[in-house]
Amino acid sequence: MRTIIFNGKGGVGKTSVSAATARRLARKGHRTIIMSVDTAHSLGDSLGVTLGPDIVHVEKNLDALELDIVHEMRTKWSAISEYISAFMLSQGVDDISAEEMAILPGMEMASALFYVLQFKDSGLYDVVVIDTAPTGETLRLLSFPDVSNWYIDKVYTLVKKMISLARVTVGKVMDFPLPSKEVMDSVDEIKNKMERVKEILEDPEQTTLRLVLNPERMAIVETRRSYTYLCLYNKTVECLIINKVYPPETDGEFFKTKLEEQAKHMEEIHESFDQLKVMTAYMMPTELSGSDMLDKMADMIYGDSDPIEGYAKTSPMHFETKKDIDYLYIKMPFIEKADVELFKTHDNSIIIETSNQKRTVALPATLRGAEMLGAGFSDGNLVIRFRRQSNAGKKDSI
Ligand SMILES: Nc1ncnc2c1ncn2[C@@H]1O[C@H](COP(=O)(O)OP(=O)(O)O)[C@@H](O)[C@H]1O
Ligand SMILES: [Mg+2]
Repeated sequence: MRTIIFNGKGGVGKTSVSAATARRLARKGHRTIIMSVDTAHSLGDSLGVTLGPDIVHVEKNLDALELDIVHEMRTKWSAISEYISAFMLSQGVDDISAEEMAILPGMEMASALFYVLQFKDSGLYDVVVIDTAPTGETLRLLSFPDVSNWYIDKVYTLVKKMISLARVTVGKVMDFPLPSKEVMDSVDEIKNKMERVKEILEDPEQTTLRLVLNPERMAIVETRRSYTYLCLYNKTVECLIINKVYPPETDGEFFKTKLEEQAKHMEEIHESFDQLKVMTAYMMPTELSGSDMLDKMADMIYGDSDPIEGYAKTSPMHFETKKDIDYLYIKMPFIEKADVELFKTHDNSIIIETSNQKRTVALPATLRGAEMLGAGFSDGNLVIRFRRQSNAGKKDSI
């Protein structure tokens, strides 16, 4: 199963492009589901159907869903939400409703990501199209498995210790309720699922992102920023879709200036993102809604090609071994060497810090105890060199 995620600034056309892509995929014979994870849902309007938290069959090969987090909390997270509620009560906070709990961002993100697992396990779909919220929120969503795996590991170990401690210190009253076995099992399940989600999201054969932008200054700046961030979190951006491009035959004095400005921006996009495939869709005379308009949009973007085709073969992060040196390559577009700081931690991770990002990357077990020899930039990649402990030993003995 392929997962194609559309992202970009608010209003650039994510929902329209996602809907157009999903329709085209279905017409090409792929069993498709499109899911909106933007709380300001407009997918139903775009497709011209009424959608909700349950899967709706739209047409042949096409199902759709608008994720509703309150509904998810009520139906799927009861053990955990009851525990959070009891915990809050013990801390003097009044009973907390499902609506209130739904604002805890982790729940929403986990729900959205678990749908991808559910679709994959069901075997019902060949492709999932995800129409996302504007950039910032989506980047948080996609980095969530990394952050939450770390967090759950730490908190989970702590809570487990507390539970065993509570058993021996009989009579001692804790000032908050300990989670029941059911809650702990749910956490266990979340942890396992999150690890699987991370694997799916970081495999370019399974998951890719398509960034939508308009030929405008601010959209270009934001797209650069999110591209860099996504690389750092090992998510594969495979193409750009420039939407709302004025067609060259547009007439009038106002449009003359607009067209010139646009030409400059288009050039900048091609130069900046020269390693990515770029597709375009023209500005249409009316708002985009309904099948005909969406099909026109799909024609502009994909022509006769099948949107299931992937445009990127490798993920932004990969390891290579040459002689006795291991290299970690991380694609880092638009970043200067001077802006990056690197640290190796005692638990076999490296921390990569840029002026506005910090990311911990767990190294594979084979590099446990390896020495970090240094790092440099080559072809837009940060390249970190390691020497394995065993290799160093072997070399000495020869
Ligand atoms: N190529 C286009 N031509 C004309 N209008 C468009 C085009 N793409 C999107 N729109 C319109 O722009 C608005 C925002 O599009 P939408 O797809 O909802 O963006 P987003 O999901 O990024 O917020 C909608 O009214 C939509 O109909
Ligand atoms: Mg939208």
